[in-house]
Amino acid sequence: MISGSKVRRIGVLTGGGDCPGLNAVIRAVVKTAINSHRLSVVGFENGFGGLIQNRARELTVNDVVGILPRGGTILGTTNRDNPFKYQMVIKGEQVFRDVSDRVVENINIHGIDALIIIGGDGSLSIGKELYEEKGLPVVGVPKTIDNDLSATDQTFGFDTALNTATEAIDKLHTTAESHHRVMVLEVMGRYAGWIALQSGIAGGADAILIPEIPYSIEKVYEKIYSRRDVGKMFSIVVVAEGAKPLGGEMTVLRRVEESFDPIRLGGIGNIVARQIEDETGMESRSIVLGHLQRGGMPTAFDRILATRYGAGAVNLVMEGRFGEMVCLRTPNIESVPLAEAVGEIRMVPIDNDMVHAARHVGICLGN
Ligand code: F6P
Repeated sequence: MISGSKVRRIGVLTGGGDCPGLNAVIRAVVKTAINSHRLSVVGFENGFGGLIQNRARELTVNDVVGILPRGGTILGTTNRDNPFKYQMVIKGEQVFRDVSDRVVENINIHGIDALIIIGGDGSLSIGKELYEEKGLPVVGVPKTIDNDLSATDQTFGFDTALNTATEAIDKLHTTAESHHRVMVLEVMGRYAGWIALQSGIAGGADAILIPEIPYSIEKVYEKIYSRRDVGKMFSIVVVAEGAKPLGGEMTVLRRVEESFDPIRLGGIGNIVARQIEDETGMESRSIVLGHLQRGGMPTAFDRILATRYGAGAVNLVMEGRFGEMVCLRTPNIESVPLAEAVGEIRMVPIDNDMVHAARHVGICLGN
């Protein structure tokens, strides 16, 4: 593997689900690489798909002008196309093959000395494998609206998703109050309840159901009844897509085997709304916020974090610290081995002070 000081050309890709701030990272990588270190930069399109199929383009400073506030990723992304388990059709049959050697070939074709992978747990796990199994000089940047990577205080994208969810709760409040309804908002977060818990607190929800605290629906009814008893004829319930009843399972919308993320969650909000309406007789509606949480302009916080991560990733490359990922250890940007960064999801600890604060202000957490 090349030493950091010999690096002349770097590659960058965005993998997994998109998230606000990806463009801000790409911009920081390109500007830091070119302006501060006189490197050249190649962007691979559509995540690992571009690395496998050799779809790449040169990125100059001009290419990143104006992208700081833009959602999405100018490089495209996908949560399919794992080079170690690549789906293809052979003789009419769908099969999975290890095509990681193609990735190595394409890296060599482009003369790339280091590869920056901006991704969540799935993409960073592939990055770790490319580093450990194929000897590729990989550096990672932690992305996900779910904020569920254990090795960093915060992933970029989370703050924007949190603000989107909070704004949705604010809007639901006025219509819920006017119509005397129960509004159930289902938010993303996969197996972690960070978006639900924090948006629920910020938006003043009456009940918040998160995967870390299996709920009893009776507790939610009790909360709604206690509000009704004091004349509050509406309630707001925030449900994480991964929330599950006591002794029950998460609600799976679909299974998609070829994805990094084969279990697609969704539907729990609707179930909870129906149960509330059947039990209390109060009109209840469910709203799935879905991919709205992944779109739009990143918040100032995410733009700054993304910029720090992008610049930090290039600095790791220049120091030859391959197989590592930039991370936030408040207030500093530091780094951690990819091997420590992946595979362990950061859930909401149930003794977290945020959980206690939610209870103190009267929010029902379903237990
Ligand atoms: O990991 C980010 C995330 O938005 C999760 O919160 C959600 O469960 C999942 O991705 C949805 O993925 P997709 O875009 O494939 O439906």
